[in-house]
Amino acid sequence: HDDDDQLIIDAGQKEFGATSCESCGMVYSADSPEDQFQHNQFHQRFLDSIKFVGWKKERVVAEFWDGKIILVMPGDPKYALKKAEEVRRVADNELGFQQVALNCPTKAKTYLFINNERLVVGCLIAQNIRQAYRVLAVPQTPKDMTREDFMEHHRAWCCSTSPENAMCGVSRIWVFSLARRKGIASRLLDTVRCTFIYGSPLTKDEIAFSDPTPDGKQFATQYCDT
Ligand code: ACO
Ligand code: ZN
Repeated sequence: HDDDDQLIIDAGQKEFGATSCESCGMVYSADSPEDQFQHNQFHQRFLDSIKFVGWKKERVVAEFWDGKIILVMPGDPKYALKKAEEVRRVADNELGFQQVALNCPTKAKTYLFINNERLVVGCLIAQNIRQAYRVLAVPQTPKDMTREDFMEHHRAWCCSTSPENAMCGVSRIWVFSLARRKGIASRLLDTVRCTFIYGSPLTKDEIAFSDPTPDGKQFATQYCDT
């Protein structure tokens, strides 16, 4: 039935003249002046935010045929912290998070995936944590629930009640919409596991995701099983 849903969405988009911008990925209606205006507003700002000019000192922690991962740590030069912050805003904006600072910016490590076109197409923010609650399989939710009921139910059901030890908390993971399903999030996580604690690689169990989105859950379930 997922396929049917997709068909309906696509048909709907065609009807309203929806286009997806090939550079910024924004889906908007080319027929609507208001949509076009919003796209114009978004487009350049977005591309500027993910543009990576290259730094004199880069902490390259992994290299691939289609890009590289650099790590930004607290105490790094201003230009590096500024870029990390800029990309975090892009991710937060898409995740619908309030534009608030990280709860502990002095400890956050930011991993950026830079592609060969010098764009930051992936971002992962990791912090030290000591305990986490395992996410359990999400149960079916009755359709007539209110939003409050749902949140309650959701919280209560999807996390176990006994904390487990974890070493590394992932508070944000984001991949540019036009670069998804190419293993970028997986490679960011593999790299975190190898480099988060110097000389001591982490197992998948030692990584915890905070408040995952539906995309995040799908990804995490898949990543942790393999
Ligand atoms: N639906 C179903 N399965 C998925 C999805 C999805 N949306 N995304 C990943 N997977 C599974 C697939 O099995 C995939 O392998 P396949 O492509 O061979 O089928 C596997 O996970 C590995 O996926 P990657 O290619 O490594 O993941 P990607 O680079 O596409 O990034 C991410 C995944 C980060 C969730 C991306 O979709 C994204 O940025 N989404 C929007 C932001 C978001 O929701 N982030 C998570 C927030 S939770 C948090 O930050 C703690
Ligand atoms: Zn665009």
